Amino acid sequence: MMNNNPNKLDPQQIVAEFKDIPPMPNVMVKALSVIKNPATGIAELAKLMQVDQAISTKTLSLVNSAFYGFRQQITSINKALVVLGMMKAKNIIMSLALKQMMTAQGSRELWEHSIKCAVAAEILAKEYKVINPDDAFVIGFLHDIGKMLLNSKNPLKYSKVRYLATQGNVKLIDVEDAQFGTNHCVLGALISKKWQLPVILTNCIRYHHEPLQSSLPTVCGIVYCADRMVQQNIPTPLLDPKIMNKMEFTINDPVAVRETILTKAGIFLKEMSSPN
Ligand SMILES: [Fe+2]
Ligand SMILES: [Fe+2]
Repeated sequence: MMNNNPNKLDPQQIVAEFKDIPPMPNVMVKALSVIKNPATGIAELAKLMQVDQAISTKTLSLVNSAFYGFRQQITSINKALVVLGMMKAKNIIMSLALKQMMTAQGSRELWEHSIKCAVAAEILAKEYKVINPDDAFVIGFLHDIGKMLLNSKNPLKYSKVRYLATQGNVKLIDVEDAQFGTNHCVLGALISKKWQLPVILTNCIRYHHEPLQSSLPTVCGIVYCADRMVQQNIPTPLLDPKIMNKMEFTINDPVAVRETILTKAGIFLKEMSSPN
């Protein structure tokens, strides 16, 4: 593809310009390491959650909410972990561990959008069976993480970018490229690599706006759909037929699916946001 943007940075320049990538929050590092051992994982995860008041109270309120619809009242973290399973518990820890970082370095809006996209990706993955739903949640949650770097590099310039992207028929990534020489997809993949996240994650973060360019188009396609379905200003078309024709799944009634997703995402977000 022709590069007609003279400001576009090459990969080395990008690494040099955006070298201040924040480290992964400690509690997330610990959560990722304990789930590697299924034998001790649940007990270790429970310990980890119990030392953090916000994580334990929010997990309990979520597990007792309509989001999961469990019948009995769950009052202990140990019990919550048993009914949720380690992967879902790890995802809740991640959502809360990154809340502060995303809000401080990006915006509250970024965190809320990430939660909604995570829930949407999980629902779509469960429905169309193209990827493990718990993994889809993680990819959905992290897809826009590169926005943190643009925002923390130059908050004023980035708010201008966001404004420009709402005016007329322009794509956010094109405005980012023009103003910063790179975009949140490239930078998100950089964070994912630095945090040593799985390759599939780096790939989907990189290509969530253009899934057909990925070596995993259908997996990326789930995140592409999730991202568009949770946006406030509904993009037109909601799902690009050129992209959807190449997917291994078909969403027959995207508008109805979007409604279901937004309802569930709203419940998740409410429980995650409620004061302790
Ligand atoms: Fe994005
Ligand atoms: Fe997004």
